[in-house]
Amino acid sequence: MTREIPALVFDAYGTLFDVHSVTRLAESLFPGKGAAISAAWRTKQLEYTWLRTIMGSYEDFARVTRSALEWTLESLAVDAGEDAHRALLEEYRRLAPFPEVPAMLERLAGGRALAILSNGHPEMLDAVVDHAGLRPHFRGGVLSVHPARRFKPDPAVYRIAEEALGVPRALMGFVSSNGWDAAGAKAFGFRAFWVNRSGASVERLGVRPDAIVKDLGELESLLA
Ligand code: 2OP
Repeated sequence: MTREIPALVFDAYGTLFDVHSVTRLAESLFPGKGAAISAAWRTKQLEYTWLRTIMGSYEDFARVTRSALEWTLESLAVDAGEDAHRALLEEYRRLAPFPEVPAMLERLAGGRALAILSNGHPEMLDAVVDHAGLRPHFRGGVLSVHPARRFKPDPAVYRIAEEALGVPRALMGFVSSNGWDAAGAKAFGFRAFWVNRSGASVERLGVRPDAIVKDLGELESLLA
């Protein structure tokens, strides 16, 4: 199977980086509310990406993330000042990679190009990748949806990876822990690998991922 997939493209947030690593700071700032803040922030952030794409009113992911945080804090009746806002947003630049990620990227990179394709604004994406020291693994590039001015799962976004890597979509592996993103990639024509970290149900979107794994370790075994 290795030779069949010359390039693997990864989603970033939730797949390589744990978006809920913001919980610790949120909890220390607002005791008892950390987990609720993190969960609502992520949900609203994704909703805004979908809504802004449908509305044709693109705003980059850093701004979307800030707007989602403002909504979250207000809806949870958290009285946060400028400093707390800034500190929480800064956490997005140093999200923790999931524990298995560095070693598995090293192994998956053997003999194939790896890349990232993310909703993240290029600047925030570069920051989180460099903070985790993962840049050397991605010789295929750290790609953002930003040039398309729309978010996943719009097909124009997946085309960015296909064109950047120059690999026909049917040979490209796309790895995401977001079931809806794996579905979007599959609908586009990629080979979709869903990293089902949370034991979620398969999305009913008319396509199924080519494989479901629990983490990148299982993906590595599958592709070895
Ligand atoms: C990403 O594009 C969807 O958050 C996810 O990185």
